[in-house]
Amino acid sequence: MFDPVTILKQLNQEEKVRLLCGLDAWHLHGIEHLGIPSITLTDGPHGVRLAQGQGVFNSADATVFPVEAAMAATWNVGLIKGLASAIGEECQQLGVSVLLGPGVNGKRSPLGGRNFEYFSEDPYLTGAMASKFVEGVQSQGVGACLKHFAGNEQETRRFLINSVIDERTLQEMYIAPFAKAIRESRPWTVMGAYNSVNGQFSCQNSHLLQDILRDQLGFDGLVMSDWGAVGDKVACHQQGLDLEMPGPADRDQQLLNALDNGEMSEAVLDSRVLKVLELIHKSVTHKRSVQVDFERHHELAIEVACESAVLLKNCGNLPLDKSRSIGLIGQFAKHPRFQGGGSSHMTPKHLSNAFEAFCSRAEVSWAIGYEDLEVTDETLREAVALAKRVDQVVLLTGTTDALESEGFDRSNMRLPEAHIELLKAVYQANSNVVVVMYAGSAMETRQIDDYAPSLMHAWLPGEGGGEALARLLFGEVSPSGKLSETFPIRLEHNPTYESFPGNKVDTIYNEGIFTGYRYYDTKKLPVQYPFGYGLSYTSFAYSDLSYEASSREVTVNVTNIGDVAGAEVVQVYIHDEYSTLRRPDQELKGFAKVMLQPGETQRVSITLDEQAFAYFITHLQRFAEESGRFEIRVGSSSRDIHESLWIELESDIECREMPTLNDTVEDWLQDDRTRPILEEVFAQVGFTTDHSFYGLTLGFPMTLLKKFIPMMGLTEQQSEYLIDKLGLE
Ligand code: BGC
Repeated sequence: MFDPVTILKQLNQEEKVRLLCGLDAWHLHGIEHLGIPSITLTDGPHGVRLAQGQGVFNSADATVFPVEAAMAATWNVGLIKGLASAIGEECQQLGVSVLLGPGVNGKRSPLGGRNFEYFSEDPYLTGAMASKFVEGVQSQGVGACLKHFAGNEQETRRFLINSVIDERTLQEMYIAPFAKAIRESRPWTVMGAYNSVNGQFSCQNSHLLQDILRDQLGFDGLVMSDWGAVGDKVACHQQGLDLEMPGPADRDQQLLNALDNGEMSEAVLDSRVLKVLELIHKSVTHKRSVQVDFERHHELAIEVACESAVLLKNCGNLPLDKSRSIGLIGQFAKHPRFQGGGSSHMTPKHLSNAFEAFCSRAEVSWAIGYEDLEVTDETLREAVALAKRVDQVVLLTGTTDALESEGFDRSNMRLPEAHIELLKAVYQANSNVVVVMYAGSAMETRQIDDYAPSLMHAWLPGEGGGEALARLLFGEVSPSGKLSETFPIRLEHNPTYESFPGNKVDTIYNEGIFTGYRYYDTKKLPVQYPFGYGLSYTSFAYSDLSYEASSREVTVNVTNIGDVAGAEVVQVYIHDEYSTLRRPDQELKGFAKVMLQPGETQRVSITLDEQAFAYFITHLQRFAEESGRFEIRVGSSSRDIHESLWIELESDIECREMPTLNDTVEDWLQDDRTRPILEEVFAQVGFTTDHSFYGLTLGFPMTLLKKFIPMMGLTEQQSEYLIDKLGLE
């Protein structure tokens, strides 16, 4: 086996430079005479998309798992680790060394075109999922790739847009998931994004690549560019990029010139090349031959789809009654909508459809209802006639690739208008309706509220979606998915409504850390379905919450008080009573999913991590815990807290900035370190709260006090004393 450091010494400059760009779209250069092979990288994230044959989207058959948004809705990190490990196994079989996933960008806006490819609006849930995903893929000797680093929360002008993000928001909301996954699972690679962050393209942004990724997060793997994200090649490699993708290279000479004229040092070149050699070395040492059991992976895809579907509403007509006739309406029943458009688009190994899955269980008739976005008089008539004939109706609706895909953002959060008209007509004919939505992100549902007595969000559920739906709706499995993103009542309520997707140049993250439920809960805004929400066929009771400070363990009893087995997601939110910098009302900091038989009680323990009470203190440029009182809230959604308790935390870090003369009189009076000084001086000169000028003075910067001394009515001696004591010279 080769040693990367030894090989590096044997390379000449041209060979080194050649290694820094892909051979083609999906392969790296090898070095034949030294026995270094070319390795393969390929897209995920919800399966392996190994390009094959002609055409952009032709790929080898592989298991298509539910998209990341759905994975997050399972809230089952063990299951997602298993899924990722299955993907890793398929990579091994197909000769793939690095899977280009998981995507861990945020969901500032529900309109983000790739929201389906990202986990959650919450950075903790995203980080937890990403970490287990990486662990799973890499357990098979295949590298994972955290993407897209960073600030890539929109598709509009994604190659050009400049994301303007203040440091605290960047750290708490958008770096945090990368940080958790890097800390816990050490991914082999990270992919730099297309966009700029605060004026510098991500792939040549030294604050992102050096200060944060290498120095702060301690990332020791390889940094590759997104496909085509390298503008100034020399600057990119200089600032921290190791590998440009895709190849073939067309700018090697630029690098060679930069080395020649000293713009770039040999040492920097070597450190980048070493990362490429180390990656090849890792993949070669982990190569092994496997025989994938695709049947088992298909079953796993069904299981994940089952656990991800979120039951939003149940008027009592679910589970379906097998002994009564069922009308299944919608093209998706036979032509499933199971994944989103773009680079993650795969060829399924074995695609199940709802119609077949339903037919094997009950008497089912089908009407197409719509073709893509179109409902004709005929398809409408046929659907209505079917609805009249049957006892129960299940109508499948959702988005299409034309509405939801990589490459563009959604223009609204609604279901297709024609589908809504179809639903209305069907509901008039038979009100015993269950509506199932196939879409990769949050939807507005108020338009269908009156016509959907029962409603399920099935996401983009992968190749097992049809079978999963049958298991769920027929009650073989109780729904246990919980929303990984808030469904607002209307798009306009979202805090980015006015700012997303920005202007031609900038997209300004001026909602800061207040996105998703952090915003809605702080603002006390009603929402359609809250973050963490999802119904089950059973229900759960909570009791005896406790907290053990030494181990940071939150413990609570959960009991299944219904008649059927079911899984509950216990969610822990932290509320900070007072903080120097403003914080959201509450933030998710832990969760656990537990399966309970009817009547069963489990004592559930959730260990909070070292970041649970901390936040990014801008003037300290780091995360820190602040002393004070915190409420630990435990519940079934951000809006359904069952148990809570208060704890006191002592931190030895001073998180407050010391007031200076550039701060106001009020700032000095509010801080217990400066208050005594000012109060003492004011008392000495007789300037007290009953002075008519006192209230006005509060807003003055300290430096201005001197100017206003005449208005304070002080004697010359008093003013000299005040100036001297406060250092106002
Ligand atoms: C996407 C990446 C993807 C790459 C390769 C890019 O356009 O942004 O997520 O991995 O293409 O297909």
